[in-house]
Order: sequence, then C-alpha cells, then structure tokens
Amino acid sequence: MTAIEGRPPSPTDTPAARGGMNGHAAPLDVATAIRTRRTIRRWTDQPVSEETVKELLECALWAPSACNMQLWDFVVVTDPATRQSLAGAVPFADKAQVCIFICYNTRFSEGSYANIQSASAAVMNMLLRAHSLGLGGFWQATIHDRQTLRQTLGLPKDVEVLSTTLFGYPAEAPGAPARRDPSHLVHWQKYHPKPTLPSSPDPRDWRLDQIADYQQARIRAGPKYNKPIKSEYEAVRGYLGHALRRVAARRVLDLLPCTGLYLEAIAGELPEAELHFVELGQQVAGFVRARLPRPAAYHPYRGTIDLPDGSVDAATCVFRLEGLPPEGRATLLREAARVLKPGGALVLAHINRGSYFEAMRLARLALGRRDVQYALATDPSLGPFTPLWADEVDRLATASGFVVEHRHSVFPLPPADEARHRVRSFHNAVTVLQYPVGALSRISRPLHGALVPAGKIRFLTLRKS
Ligand SMILES: Cc1cc2nc3c(=O)[nH]c(=O)nc-3n(C[C@H](O)[C@H](O)[C@H](O)COP(=O)(O)O)c2cc1C
Repeated sequence: MTAIEGRPPSPTDTPAARGGMNGHAAPLDVATAIRTRRTIRRWTDQPVSEETVKELLECALWAPSACNMQLWDFVVVTDPATRQSLAGAVPFADKAQVCIFICYNTRFSEGSYANIQSASAAVMNMLLRAHSLGLGGFWQATIHDRQTLRQTLGLPKDVEVLSTTLFGYPAEAPGAPARRDPSHLVHWQKYHPKPTLPSSPDPRDWRLDQIADYQQARIRAGPKYNKPIKSEYEAVRGYLGHALRRVAARRVLDLLPCTGLYLEAIAGELPEAELHFVELGQQVAGFVRARLPRPAAYHPYRGTIDLPDGSVDAATCVFRLEGLPPEGRATLLREAARVLKPGGALVLAHINRGSYFEAMRLARLALGRRDVQYALATDPSLGPFTPLWADEVDRLATASGFVVEHRHSVFPLPPADEARHRVRSFHNAVTVLQYPVGALSRISRPLHGALVPAGKIRFLTLRKS
C-alpha cells in the first residue's frame, strides 16, 4: 500500500528516496531542477503509470500547508473519456495524460489566502518532482467553463477548484522564457517605488524597454490575449493585402508586429514577398516568427532600424503608433521613411480618436478598471494605448517625409461582434447591453456609409516623398 492509499508518507520511503529517475542520467539537484523545469503544453501518448501519479501526489502532500491543516483535496483524472469530456472546460485536459485538480472546501477557508498559498506549494512540489522524473507539467489557470468542470468532477456545493495541473511525457522541449531583471523587482529592506513597470495605460508614462518587458509577459500569457475581433481582423487584412499588392511590394517591413497577427496575414496575402520586421525584444520576435508560415528577418528596434537606406519596397504599421509615446511615434515613422526606397509605401492603420472608440475608452476609464492591463485597445491589447486624431497622424506622416496617397476609414459604428465583445468585457453591471448594442449596430448598417469619416479604423497609404 502506498502513502496515497492511507499509510502516512515517509520521506525516506518514496521513489525519490529510492532513486528511480526517469529520463535523466543522474538525479537532479534541487537548484538544477528549479532552473531547468519548463511549462510543457504538448505531450506524447505514453501513459503515466499509477505509481508515478501517486509519487507526484505524495510529493504534493509533503508541501507546507497553513497550520499544517492540509485542507485540500486532490481530484485526479486519468480516464481518457473523462479527460475528453473536460476538454471544452479545461484546455489541454484531453491532451495531457493526467489532470490533477486541487480543491478546497470554502466552509473552512472563505476569505483566506492560506489555502491558495498551500495549494500553490503543493503544485510546485508536483511540478518539480514531475520534471525530475522526466515528465512535463503544466500549471494552468485558464478554465473556460467552471460549471462543467464542477459537474464532471462531481464537486459538492462548498468545494472549489483552486488549481489545475496537467502532466504527461513531454513532446516538446521549450527554451527557458527569460526572467525579468531582479534589480527591477527586488526591494531590499523596504519597498522602493522605482524602475518597475508603470500601471498607467497612457503611452507617455512608458519607455520602450518597459513596453518590451510588458509585451514579453503578455505574449507568454498565451493565446487568450492574442485573439482579434473577427470584423476588425478581416478589415485590416483586406486593406493591407489590397494596398501592398497595388504597390507591388516584394520586400516588406512590418513595424512592431508584437503578436505577429497581421504579419501572418501579410505573409498570406503576399506569398512571394520577402518579410522583415522590427520588434522590441528577442522573446516577442520569437513569438512572431513561430506563427509565420515562412521565415522572416528580425531587426531589433531601439529607436533605429538596422536596415540600409532605401532597402524596402513597403512598410506596414498596424495599431502600433498608439502604443508609443509621442516622440517614439515620430522616430519610428522617420526610420520607416529612411529604410523605404524612394516612392516606397508605408501602409498605416490606426484607431481614430474622433470615433465611437474614444467614447468607449473614456467610459471604460470612468467605470471600469484603469490599469494598463485593461486599456481599451484593438485586440490583441498589449500595453499602453491611446487612439490618435486623424490630423495628428496626417501631420506626423508629412513631417516624417511622406505624402498621403490614399485614405480609408471603416466602422463608424461598432460592428455587431465588437459591440458584443466590448460590452461583455466592459463591466459586469452593463453586460446585458451587449444584445441591444449589437442589434442597433446591425439595424443601422445602411447609415454607416454617411458616417465613414468618423470611422474607428483609419487606413493610410503613404508614399515616401
Ligand atoms: C498560477 C499559474 C497559472 C498559469 N496559467 C497558465 C495558463 O492558463 N495558460 C498557459 O499557457 N500557461 C499558464 N501558466 C504557465 C506560465 O505561462 C509559465 O509558467 C511561464 O510562461 C514561465 O514559463 P516556465 O514555466 O516554462 O518557466 C501558468 C503559470 C502559473 C504559475
């Protein structure tokens, strides 16, 4: 009988103490295990033995817990059919071989952080032990459907899921995501308000290196933050494809693609074009590259672009000026003009401050959360963001050496999918508005043509003069 079946676990009578390392030539020491563990999100079909699962659970039980109360329950799901039925509620539940849900009873612990801290310690023990056994673990906060999860696990009313951890044998070996500079994060003896990240959604409060740092974190946070609103995506993709084909662009430079969403679209629209992009950091650049269907050259951006004068046919900049401080916008456009060939085109998309978007943004600032994380922006929203006035952008373009060749605006009123999305993520109290706002947008569609100058998205095709 193992400890999990009843016998109190003994630190000297476990597979760990007996050796039994799987996948490593020698047992991992603690420091190495901590540094080499990675979040694994893809696994092979190899089952995980019951003995190994019990070993993980035993290590979990050896974690510290508040007052040693151990007020946790571990629901272990290995059954393929159950995992499959959980897949819609808990991403990857069907892909991993083992799902372990740590639960707690709210009657014992309402309003206390202690159980969360205890469960976190248990998760960490499991992740490290799994790594030492050659397994890959994934601590996943995302739960799409708590109700289905609760029903599938058969949780009583008072029992809540605190954490989800998924395990299996790794089918990937991801590199280590960079850790932030300790000097930005560690405060000796007392808290010093200093070079940490701003929480303001206003780009004027941010430096380029801080934006890079923040975007890196958000990119790592996963696909949730990288989904666009469909109507917006289609409008931008359509304009970019049309404008770039018109200028017969063979070598295209995308300015700060960030998630790579629109560079991916450009790659699809212009299958023959040579792709280049400038980005603020290596990690974000890696994320961009990973989603592209073919290689693209990455040029780090620190206020200059390491490309020769007049070396690209076309450049694109989609919703990126809005995230830069004013002097950063001017610098980026001047650099774009420099690297473009004479007569080359910059295709720009920006959010128009003179549109309904600004009203939504102000309402959000007044009623909703005000931190950068909640900045109302195009989707995906990654960092500080402020919509720009049409005149302001036109002036900036002219001052940077461009002539406006073509202007186009779309979405004088929110398209139905945006209306639903915005209201839903706006504030709980007003979510019911999503239905009438969506319907209004659909009904008023014939009027949109007359309202176009106040469109939310402005597209500009600019020629290098
Ligand atoms: C509490 C917690 C929740 C997490 N939730 C998710 C998640 O929902 N989706 C995801 O892809 N990664 C999730 N992760 C994994 C982190 O993205 C990952 O730990 C981070 O990028 C660092 O990578 P590393 O674990 O390989 O060092 C979570 C991590 C923690 C600690």
